[in-house]
Amino acid sequence: MAKSLPEYNFQPATLDFLKDSPKLLFINNEWVKASSGKTFETVNPATGQVLAEVALAGESDVDQAVAAAKAAFPAWSQTIAADRAILLFKLADLIEQHADALAELETLDNGKPIRVARRGDLPYVTKHLRYQAGWADKIEGSTVPVTFPNQFVYTRREPLGVVGAIIPWNFPLLMAIWKLGPALAAGNTLVLKPAEQTPLTALYLAGLVRETGFPPGVVNVLTGPGEPTGAAMAKHMDIAKIAFTGSTAVGAKIMEAAAKSNLKRVSLELGGKSPNVIFADADLAAAVRGAQWAVFSTAGQECVAGSRLFVERPVYAQVLAGLKENVEKMVVNHGFAEKVHVGPLINETQLERVATYIKEGKQAGAELITGGERLGDSFKDGYFLKPAVFASQDDTLKLVQEEIFGPVAAVTAFDSYDELIERANSTQYGLAAGVWTRDIGKAHRYAHAVQAGTVWINGYGMIDPAAPFGGYKMSGFGREMGKEAIDLYTQVKTVWVNTQ
Ligand code: NAI
Ligand code: MG
Repeated sequence: MAKSLPEYNFQPATLDFLKDSPKLLFINNEWVKASSGKTFETVNPATGQVLAEVALAGESDVDQAVAAAKAAFPAWSQTIAADRAILLFKLADLIEQHADALAELETLDNGKPIRVARRGDLPYVTKHLRYQAGWADKIEGSTVPVTFPNQFVYTRREPLGVVGAIIPWNFPLLMAIWKLGPALAAGNTLVLKPAEQTPLTALYLAGLVRETGFPPGVVNVLTGPGEPTGAAMAKHMDIAKIAFTGSTAVGAKIMEAAAKSNLKRVSLELGGKSPNVIFADADLAAAVRGAQWAVFSTAGQECVAGSRLFVERPVYAQVLAGLKENVEKMVVNHGFAEKVHVGPLINETQLERVATYIKEGKQAGAELITGGERLGDSFKDGYFLKPAVFASQDDTLKLVQEEIFGPVAAVTAFDSYDELIERANSTQYGLAAGVWTRDIGKAHRYAHAVQAGTVWINGYGMIDPAAPFGGYKMSGFGREMGKEAIDLYTQVKTVWVNTQ
């Protein structure tokens, strides 16, 4: 609990990795300096200390990486699919062997509790990669019964070409794999840009990609901020598709750049303001615990955060009191500390954004039930905020409408089912939703009526490689996970054969 890192025995691999700084770009299986000669710093959000100098890829670096990926595409796309799968499985094995170092780097760079990185992020990374690797040799077309005589018509699912992946900082390695897995399984090549706040695990991954034996150019990793690196990818004429996860505002910019360049394909997994609903007939203890973790895991920095909690009036006071009691027991601490539920926010900017929502929420008349203060003393150089619970009946507040991406819950009471549906659907977002009730009919009615890409009944937050995931409305489009992920990285060709 000092300004520096708490006592912790790091893996030798973690320390070795941090030693050689600046970190270089990974292009065509080589480590190269950015042509601009520029670097940027990545910081430990628990301490504010610089972890590493990282190369900043400019436009010409993007050109080089895309050229390498483009050159690698013909051979990679024609590789026997089962052989592509073998490489992806091998990469998953290597990730597993390096899981401890990767988890430590994730906690250093992102701030999340090491237990979460180790037991959550890393096992998910390998599960997702293996699941998608399994699809590589099962991508099938169909035969089509057309109205013409003597024509045999079939479809093929073909890869797109060079995929650009632009990802956020909340699940750095997992987001990288969500995109790398299906993109490579389907036969595309990849240029991956991790978030500038958390570049380290993507760079470590690049080393494992090389060790696996992927042909040069199949995977390239460029570090740098949205401008210029991400923007140069979004408008690049030789990138066939951008797979993006991040804010709705940047998602819109990427579509615009795609429209103005080569009409590249775009899939967007964007923000959310997900409604989580507790009916009076629910198992209240489970629902309160579920609601607490729905919004406060990853310090609220999750796209699916259940940040709007709707509680049926008869149990509203009881739920609010239970939530307050639970939340006040949550330990805010360094990710490497013995006991920690909530780690730091990603950086000062994010902390200030969240603090402004809290301040303006209070001014606008929302009642702050608990939390919301920044931690001082030995925590003051990090970006720690106490989980905040607001009560508000006013759905027009910014606090209730906008994605905060921090540990802030807005709790409200509702009286009728129809009122609930209308209010639950009254944001621009539609990523996820939760409902807690023992009435199975009502649960399904809600699940069908709520505008969200994923609905959890009597649970919250589960994501699985086999279960399609993505947004309604301004939470984006395209479904990652499941077989649908393969659809996102392929296009359909129809072939007509005259059999006469
Ligand atoms: P962001 O959307 O700016 O960043 C996500 C990725 O996009 C990063 O790799 C970034 O470098 C890149 N990027 C930024 N500007 C770009 C541009 N013009 N062209 C191409 N790529 C660009 O998100 P940021 O600034 O880190 O966070 C701001 C807010 O966005 C958060 O408070 C949260 O509300 C939302 N967000 C949502 C996420 C989600 O999982 N849905 C993840 C991250 C942020
Ligand atoms: Mg960092």
